[in-house]
Amino acid sequence: MPQVHICEVGPRDGLQNARHLMPTEAKKRWIAALAAAGLKEIEVGSFVPPKLIPAMADTGEIVAFAKTLPGVKVVALAPNLKGFQRALEAGAHKVSFPVSASRKHSESNVRMTPEQMVEEVRKCAQFPHPGVEIEGAVATAFGCTLQGEVPEDDVVRIATELAAFCDGVAIADTVGYANPAQIRRVFRKVKSAIGSKLEAAHLHNTRGLGLANALAAYEEGVRHFDSSLGGLGGCPFAPGASGNVITEDLVFMFEAMGVTTGIDLEKLMVARRMMVEAIPEEPTYGHFALAGLPKGFRAAA
Ligand code: COA
Ligand code: ZN
Repeated sequence: MPQVHICEVGPRDGLQNARHLMPTEAKKRWIAALAAAGLKEIEVGSFVPPKLIPAMADTGEIVAFAKTLPGVKVVALAPNLKGFQRALEAGAHKVSFPVSASRKHSESNVRMTPEQMVEEVRKCAQFPHPGVEIEGAVATAFGCTLQGEVPEDDVVRIATELAAFCDGVAIADTVGYANPAQIRRVFRKVKSAIGSKLEAAHLHNTRGLGLANALAAYEEGVRHFDSSLGGLGGCPFAPGASGNVITEDLVFMFEAMGVTTGIDLEKLMVARRMMVEAIPEEPTYGHFALAGLPKGFRAAA
């Protein structure tokens, strides 16, 4: 049975961009409900200066809580060595680093050039981190709201540099500019440069192409996807970015195609309701939540 692996990034990518703070206890209940729905990997927060993104101030406590959920790989984002050290101290299983291929986004997001950011990740990889996975995420890989076009050669070069010292590389459409033809082309080029180090697709649904892009990546051999429940998400330092590809719609698509996700759609809806109750003013998206399961639907497993 074919299968895919989905990492829920709502507690990080979603809440970093939400207009309203989700209280720490509500975050914990939501993350527990996501785990109960079958999500085996959850990006629970980021280790960035709390002044910069107050919604992420409780990430240490959230990581510690998420680690009590059996079988869940707990992921956190870090932008520098200080964030990485905080992530290690908290006990994250995996740390993801955003390395923008767009020079302008890199400077706006992490106040470093792409070259400086690659060096920062290299420094982290050289810092002792027994048993902790490092992911290099090539951000704004398909275009950027600040810079416009992002050359594909830059994406391949950064992915290749990161692959030398990261456990895995993700390619991210941070602002939702990608189309399926571009996804195929870029994933194919990166795959031929770094082989199995190419792991995940991190896609945004800003122009409604999230699922089409995920399918294109799947057809190029990608089996790891980031997504967020209710389509929350966006980078506060990339104007115009909106939500990630919607977890429940992505799970429905794959299960309907006969591709196992290990995720229970009805339990996922319980987690969605919990999220909506915790931040009721936040807009949410998605078709599956509106339409529900088709009559006679059978999940892939
Ligand atoms: N966690 C907590 N505090 C941190 C930190 C981290 N990861 N990194 C730096 N700091 C603190 C420093 O100790 C310093 O504190 P001080 O003023 O009390 O001395 C202050 O923040 C400034 O440090 P500096 O190294 O000069 O950082 P900066 O202001 O140049 O910002 C980043 C650089 C990378 C820390 C910041 O741009 C960042 O966090 N970007 C990520 C943004 C993000 O989350 N985007 C969305 C996800 S892609
Ligand atoms: Zn994102």
